[in-house]
Amino acid sequence: MERSFVIIKPDGTARRRVSALILKALMDRGYKIRAFREMKVSESLAKLHYAVHKEKPFFPWLVDFISSAPVLVMIFEADDVIQGVRDALGATFVQKADPISLRGKYGIWAGVNIAHASDAPETATKEIELWTGEGGLEESSDAEEQAKAYIEQYDSGDVDYTMEIRDVVKNAIENHDISDNVLESLVRFLGKDSKDITHEEITALASVIFDFVKEEVEKA
Ligand code: RTP
Ligand code: MG
Repeated sequence: MERSFVIIKPDGTARRRVSALILKALMDRGYKIRAFREMKVSESLAKLHYAVHKEKPFFPWLVDFISSAPVLVMIFEADDVIQGVRDALGATFVQKADPISLRGKYGIWAGVNIAHASDAPETATKEIELWTGEGGLEESSDAEEQAKAYIEQYDSGDVDYTMEIRDVVKNAIENHDISDNVLESLVRFLGKDSKDITHEEITALASVIFDFVKEEVEKA
């Protein structure tokens, strides 16, 4: 049996129904859930988790992103679960992800891509060690029930503002628009289905996405 460490990133978790749909899609693949927790990631934990990327130009942004608003962290267990979760998520960059993959359906833009998943058995082991240590994630016999309760609570109605949020980002980049209106629109759409996520957290998440937009506009 193999284990994979998975995070539904802030852009997933802040959109409650979207995160429930992602969780459900992964559970429907028959994976067992051994640990499940909603938490805010500290800057130090974010840096340790993404240490392999510390020399990359996007590292500071990535740390800000993952620690901007709460995430869902979990351990899945099944045969071939590592590759299975990565297949379900699709390519890293949202525009490159297959439209039927989870990132293709719900990802926002580029690396604002709704989830992290371990990429090999050795990294899974390291990540599980880190997150059950410093991260405070605990294995528990009712993790599966907690995940099901989360889905039950949030997968109702038809709210999904993925397309609206993508349009805000796309239009801003295309029109070189880095006005406050862009940030305000991001805050508005990200906050529409964000029960128990604070306005400060939504604003922090929106600001990180806006930072990405500004960088793209500067590059152009
Ligand atoms: P993850 O670690 O989050 O599961 O994603 P991954 O394996 O598919 O991609 P990885 O190369 O490990 O990158 C980690 C995360 O960093 C962000 N990223 N941004 N701006 C960029 O060029 C860039 N490249 C990567 C993404 O959020 C990616 O998931
Ligand atoms: Mg990775």
